[in-house]
Amino acid sequence: MKRTLGGIGMLLAVAGLAASVSLASCGPNKPDAAMQEPGVTEAARPGTLAYDRGMWQQLLSDHTKIRRSVKFTETGVEAITESDDPEVAARIIEHAKAMQERVRAGARVRVWDPVFAELFKRHEAVTLEVTPTDKGVTIVERSDDPETLALLRSHALGVNDFVRSGHAAGRRETPRLKVGDPVPVSEVAIGGVSHRFLMTQPDGGQVAMLKTAGVSALVNFRKPAEHVDYDEAGAAKGAGMEYRNLPYAGPQELNDELLDRARAAIGDADRNGRSAALHCRTGNRVGPGWAGYRVLDQGVPLAQALAEARAIGTHDPLMESKTRDYIRRRSGGSEWSALSPESMSAAQRATYERGVEARDAMFQRLFAALGEAMAKPAPEGGAAGAIGVCKEQAPKIAQRIAKENGVMIGRTSAKLRNPMNGAPTWAAGVLASTPTEARVLTNTDGSMGVVLPIKLSGACLACHGDPASMDPAVTAALREKYPKDQATGFKEGDLRGWFWVEMPGQ
Ligand code: HEC
Repeated sequence: MKRTLGGIGMLLAVAGLAASVSLASCGPNKPDAAMQEPGVTEAARPGTLAYDRGMWQQLLSDHTKIRRSVKFTETGVEAITESDDPEVAARIIEHAKAMQERVRAGARVRVWDPVFAELFKRHEAVTLEVTPTDKGVTIVERSDDPETLALLRSHALGVNDFVRSGHAAGRRETPRLKVGDPVPVSEVAIGGVSHRFLMTQPDGGQVAMLKTAGVSALVNFRKPAEHVDYDEAGAAKGAGMEYRNLPYAGPQELNDELLDRARAAIGDADRNGRSAALHCRTGNRVGPGWAGYRVLDQGVPLAQALAEARAIGTHDPLMESKTRDYIRRRSGGSEWSALSPESMSAAQRATYERGVEARDAMFQRLFAALGEAMAKPAPEGGAAGAIGVCKEQAPKIAQRIAKENGVMIGRTSAKLRNPMNGAPTWAAGVLASTPTEARVLTNTDGSMGVVLPIKLSGACLACHGDPASMDPAVTAALREKYPKDQATGFKEGDLRGWFWVEMPGQ
């Protein structure tokens, strides 16, 4: 590796090598013994083989606290390896640094494992960038050499196995991909979980590859119309896999029945000892069913289950709200009740204020994005051009504000432009009365839901006014991007809809 080295990929690799090197000097080169032998304690100072090896062992022991997402590109691998446990996160980073030093010094690792040994031989052909995150490491590895690239991919998949299975995978030889094999499907590995969470739609070759890697069930959350050019059921059948399609388009179609079926699909795979690959187009639609299963069927704490769902790709605040709602109701004893502003406790008022702050932040950000887009000259800018910007930016802004403020947030309306902007389950009742003032609900679990009305100003009418007096370029853009648009025909001062904000109780 040329310059910056370290990353968890290489580092785990190097740690393994460290283990074998020490073995080679003190006994037979048996991988089993190498991986199981506890870290040598005497002389376990940072920088020593024993210390680094102890660290590697510890990471394998802590594998259930680690999550890793790996994106395979045409030229390399981008991996993020993280832990919510600050000690494990610190260890991941420290290990990365230690291994960076080892690789610089030319120490090979895991020599009994051909993928690792070969990769080290070819280290000159690898470029590697490492960036610590607050919870671990991001690593980008690339190679122009096809054989080295195949090794990098094999290695990345091998490290995912370490995360999924810990010591058991550490003892196994890493499966080796050949030049010309399909690019592996990008995936998220969750420590201690045998299932694979795909970050994209797999193609036929990738499905076959998953089967070879031991996956025997495929769960697809996409609607068949989204992949008409590809018969996934057929591909699964051809590969000898069980296939389930649990189709839904987005948060507006996420319901109890679908979540029940997702849990059943994962539960069946677990009961039959099968590894399943779960996917939609990006991972967004996989998280809710997974979180439901984790909490309701496996007793995993809600915060962890939701963190996993986010790692899998569920960033949509409405999706998270609906998932929490489902879990609350399925675990019984959750009830929403209206709270009048006068009867709020000091703590409730503070929570309410947090919601208003998040709303203000989102409003400002949306307004700035809109202004910026409209100020540009047509065709990219102007009102018509800004529609594309809104479509692209509005959901991202909501996600960012939600993350920054530790809330779920969105906009909704009785006359929707984007059907994905539906209301959270808890808000449906209160919105039915078309409130023109703020409304607050609290749940027995401590959550709070707030809806805040949105009035239209003159500036909004360019895109929400009377279609007859709107710029034809705007109406054309709306027809194209929002064929089911209901959000025109408003006048200045009209109630356009509501911001909703949910502050989680736990
Ligand atoms: C440049 C055109 C444009 C202007 C100007 C505009 N909007 Fe919108 N509005 C959109 C688009 C496009 C969407 C759909 C965004 C999405 O896909 O989430 C939208 C969505 C919304 C929504 C979410 C609910 C739904 O129907 O999907 C609300 C609420 C809203 N707009 C209010 C306003 C207000 C208030 C103003 C004035 C401050 C305004 N808009 C100005 C284009 C515009």
